[in-house]
Amino acid sequence: MKVFVSKHKHRFQNITAITGAGISAESGVPTFRGTDGLWKNFRAEELATPEAFQKNPKLVWEWYLWRRNIIESKSPNEGHKALVELEQKHSNFFLITQNVDGLHLQAGSKRPLEIHGNIFINRCVSCDYQSKELKIDSKNLPPHCGRCNSLLRPGVLWFGESYEELKLNQSIFRMQNTDLLLILGTSGAVSMPVYLAQIAKEAGSLVIEINQEETPFTSSADLFLQGKSGKILPELVQEILSV
Ligand code: OAD
Repeated sequence: MKVFVSKHKHRFQNITAITGAGISAESGVPTFRGTDGLWKNFRAEELATPEAFQKNPKLVWEWYLWRRNIIESKSPNEGHKALVELEQKHSNFFLITQNVDGLHLQAGSKRPLEIHGNIFINRCVSCDYQSKELKIDSKNLPPHCGRCNSLLRPGVLWFGESYEELKLNQSIFRMQNTDLLLILGTSGAVSMPVYLAQIAKEAGSLVIEINQEETPFTSSADLFLQGKSGKILPELVQEILSV
């Protein structure tokens, strides 16, 4: 890592990170695709869809409230904190996260782009009502909008839904103009980060990946650091920031 960073450091003008569930794993938030990602034998792909919500909104809400409960008791780890330090000390750092747990914000990242939304948002399916403050009553599911009485849903992106155009354009623009892309704790099972990484690579960016296991990103990464992001990322950030 040391040799690689010192050799290429002059190229790190714009740094971008894409994070996935792995960065929150050491905080105790279950990832999606490990066995601990299962809930009552359901997989995320069976519950995080508009069809699942249409068929059984109560079941989908139960899953989200279960996840909210887990996340509420967790705190950011050293990996999240390292990215805050990078944002504070590097003049041009940008963070894109697939995570909906809000732990980057809680750690102190100023403006992470939450491309899959935030699990604590409640959003009306019909009108433009949305709120993070509203407490959902788990005994009275699914919740309804106080304004128009339509169903409320969690403010996250589901499988089969389109990305918000503004967020997508911002991400693509950033990929076209980054010098170093950090891919942190994501399996590459969802196609958007794979597509974004490809754009960065084609635009000439260096790519460093941190993951416990090899992924679809690994073969094209310039440096693959295998292990836990909570341990490796603070070391990498120190290397990047050291003069
Ligand atoms: P996954 O659960 O698919 O993958 C988590 C990745 O983190 C795996 O590659 C693990 O090897 C890695 N990992 C686990 N612990 C780690 C650690 N301590 N340090 C480093 N890496 C570690 O999660 P995502 O890739 O984030 O989308 O999943 C992408 C999207 O699929 C999610 O945002 C969500 C999901 O369905 C939506 O809900 C739209």
